[in-house]
Amino acid sequence: MRLSFFGLGYVGTVYAIGFSSMGFKVIGYDIDRERVRLLGLGKSPFHEPYLVEALESSIRSGCLEVTSDWRRAISDSAITFITVGTPSKKDGSINLQYVVSASKAIGKALRDKPKRSHVVVVKSTVIPGTTMGIVKATLERESGLRAFDDFGLAMNPEFLKEGSALEDFRQPDRILIGANDRRTMDRLCKVYASFKSPKILTNIPAAELIKYANNAFLAMKVSYINMIANLCQKTPGVDVKAVAEAIGIDKRVGSQFLKAGAGWGGSCWPKDLAALKSYGRSLGVELPLISATMEVNISQPNKVITLVEELIGDINGKRIAILGLAFKPNTDDIREAVSIRIIQELIRKGAKLAVYDPAAMSNMKRFMGEITIDYPDSAKECLRNADCAVIVTEWEEFKKIAPEDFQQLMRNPSLVDGRRIYDPGKYESKLKFRAIGLGT
Ligand code: UGA
Repeated sequence: MRLSFFGLGYVGTVYAIGFSSMGFKVIGYDIDRERVRLLGLGKSPFHEPYLVEALESSIRSGCLEVTSDWRRAISDSAITFITVGTPSKKDGSINLQYVVSASKAIGKALRDKPKRSHVVVVKSTVIPGTTMGIVKATLERESGLRAFDDFGLAMNPEFLKEGSALEDFRQPDRILIGANDRRTMDRLCKVYASFKSPKILTNIPAAELIKYANNAFLAMKVSYINMIANLCQKTPGVDVKAVAEAIGIDKRVGSQFLKAGAGWGGSCWPKDLAALKSYGRSLGVELPLISATMEVNISQPNKVITLVEELIGDINGKRIAILGLAFKPNTDDIREAVSIRIIQELIRKGAKLAVYDPAAMSNMKRFMGEITIDYPDSAKECLRNADCAVIVTEWEEFKKIAPEDFQQLMRNPSLVDGRRIYDPGKYESKLKFRAIGLGT
């Protein structure tokens, strides 16, 4: 069964590489010719563990081909996954322009294919009603064919996490397939036949909603523990880590996604929660937990700034070292990263900044443009002569920085642990130390 992926952003690239490394013949299409060229040379456009190795071997084996010829992507495959981005509009609602342009091209190309030979699958995160609404209408209009009779249509969301995307592809907690007819469902079940994960088979709008409900629940869990962390911080002797561990042991709560920190970011949750809220509004349904989840996250980076001020007083003119720029470890992605909000606020308060990240330096330089920030080559260089250090992303290499390193390198050894990577007992005795969720 030949597969095509329409849109080689994060999701499309990972899926195209994942399926081709399983032996599927895969053709990936993207409008961005430079991206296609790089992928064809075995170069990944973003940092993701093990991806380059898998990409090279898929290209070498001939299982993966990338192209900027959309007609060929459709003619050479039997199942096309739409994997384009679904960003936010200014008002938070979903921007479907890329989904629509992909559907137009696919529809046009379907004209040249025999009836009942092709299935179109929406994998992009879209609000309920999108697949059966604008996607179906566009495909039918452009192809002159009828969905479910002449071509299959389904919705199959993804649950990949950046930083562990290939592993999540290979061993998902579940595979969710939304289809409204048996034939299409059977074809997709065949694609996923060799995966051991449970398969949840449902209808198209339910699959669309489940994806949002899942992301929003996880974001709510993190905002919840961040809210509790703020309480712990004001309660002497209480540490949110101990609280999270104790409540996470309750199987009904579960221990994952209970790490308190400087807040959540990334390319998915912020836009997905905004889109869900806007969808609720359009239906007249209030979603107060979604609003609260977002509110907690907006104020969370300020908690880090407050801790810096508790340690060093007035920030104006002080040199502050920021360790971690990516929105989470093992990625170079800075989209909606908390680091940006922390950097902007510190600059507003007159700080001089040195920032370091093992993977996201060039992305941040590009994002910050002319703004004067130092970009040293290592974490230790970043700490040199600083008045305060802030851990913003929990990269493994930062965990190895000993209290003595901070002591030796910094002008005023003081540290804010915004991701709870250090044992307070070891650091408090040697440095001025504050941490999110640590009552002092
Ligand atoms: C998220 C979901 O976890 C995926 O299942 C989903 O497929 C994806 O969005 C998507 O919709 O495409 P991702 O954005 O890659 O994946 O990152 P997560 O690991 O979920 O982390 C999100 C944010 O929460 C990060 O900023 C992370 O640092 C933060 N976080 C996560 C915490 O602060 N504490 C935690 O305990 C967990």
